[in-house]
Parts: sequence; structure tokens; C-alpha cells
Amino acid sequence: MTQARSKLVVGNWKMHGNHAANAELLQGILAARPLGVDAAVCVPFPYLSEVAVTLANSGLAWGAQDVSAHEQGAYTGEVSAAMLMEFGCRYAIVGHSERRAYHGESDQIVADKAKAALARGITPIVCVGETLAQRQAGETEAVVKRQLSVVIHTLGQCIGEIVVAYEPVWAIGTGLTASPEQAQAVHAVLRAQLAAATARAAEMTLLYGGSVKPDNAAVLFSQPDIDGGLIGGAALKAADFVAIVRAAA
Ligand code: PGA
Repeated sequence: MTQARSKLVVGNWKMHGNHAANAELLQGILAARPLGVDAAVCVPFPYLSEVAVTLANSGLAWGAQDVSAHEQGAYTGEVSAAMLMEFGCRYAIVGHSERRAYHGESDQIVADKAKAALARGITPIVCVGETLAQRQAGETEAVVKRQLSVVIHTLGQCIGEIVVAYEPVWAIGTGLTASPEQAQAVHAVLRAQLAAATARAAEMTLLYGGSVKPDNAAVLFSQPDIDGGLIGGAALKAADFVAIVRAAA
């Protein structure tokens, strides 16, 4: 079906930034971003408080890059969804491939994090994606379907409330981008899988991530099942991020 879905562009700052750089970046984005496209920045935990102040009533949303699967308790170093909610977080990225790879996050942990976020009214941006070896072995579809199926099983009917980001691991930070056709093919698989689980699949937001830049964003975002992007490196330069948001307009 043709899409009535609105586009969303989310910046993932990863472990970058400092007070001065963040302020400059946000001012640059706020000064130039087009209105009418949903956009957000997902910032390191220590900066949430000041980002919330800077972005209050700006129309630019903010979020976190992770959230604990647990509600509260003896989990040193973790941050709960309830805490994020106090900072006005709209989104939490969960299951980013860097967390899966460096922090051993399983599909079930990712699903539990998504559930914890939703329970507090925070929209989880659930990342799925295959490695280069998995793509070369022809396993792309099986990998992303397995990753998403655990989330579907864990969330039940609430699955319609999440955002899904397809991020091929081989495209993240490498300058290699999935072709629009490659990305669309996986997005179509994911949307079909969601459609088998919820009547809301056609309205759900599916983002592409992996070396999205100003010069490739428009063609990626014009694919029928791609509803915007999750942006890493290019989200750290106001002009680039704004250009990508504009490409979604
Ligand atoms: P990239 O990162 O845009 O730098 O490839 C995307 C991501 O990791 O979310």
C-alpha cells in the first residue's frame, strides 16, 4: 500500500559530545531544521537533563541510546525507563548492534528492554540487522526475522507501538550503505512479519540506518517501506543532520 505514514529521522550521537559541542549542535539543528518532519536526537545519559531544557517546546524530540530491562534495584550502572521518563524522553534505542556485539545483548534482553520502555510510555527504537558474513551466507532475512520475532513474542499486541530500525551491521559507520533496493527488500520482509502480528503494521515506522548521508537519504527514504532514518556519524554535524531531515520532508 502507499504510505500515509509520516517520516521520522533520529540522530544517534553514540558516545560523542560535550557541553559546548552539544549546545552548538543543537542550536545549529534548531536554527535550520524544516518543520513538519518528526525528528529526534538520542544523546548520552549525562546530557539528557540539559538537552531536555534546550529542546523543551522546540518540536525536536530527544531520547536515550539504551534502557534497562529492569524496573529498579541493584543493577549498578543501569538506567531505568522510569528515570528516562522523568527527563521527558520520547525514545530509547534498544538492541543497537554495538550493544549486541560489545555488551552481549541477546534477542530476549533486547525484547525485555523494549517492553520496559513501553511500560513507561517511551517508544523503543528496536534495531535489527545482519553482519556481512550473515549477508554473504544468504542469512539476512532469517537473522532479522529471528531478532524481530522475539520482540513480537514478548510484546504481544503492543508490538504496534514500537519503531523498528533496520541497520545492516556492515553499513554502520563504514561508509557502505545498503542500496535502496537492498534496504527496501528487508523493510518489506519486516513489515510483512509485523503484519502477521498486528493490524497496525501498515502504520508502523520502519527506519533505515547505516551510513545515511545527505546525498543518499532522499532515495532511501523514498522507498515504500522506509519511513526515515537512524543516523550516526552524520547526526554530529548540524548541516548534515538538517539536510537528512529535509530529505525526509
Ligand atoms: P552511521 O551509524 O550513520 O554512522 O553508520 C548509524 C547507527 O549506528 O545508528
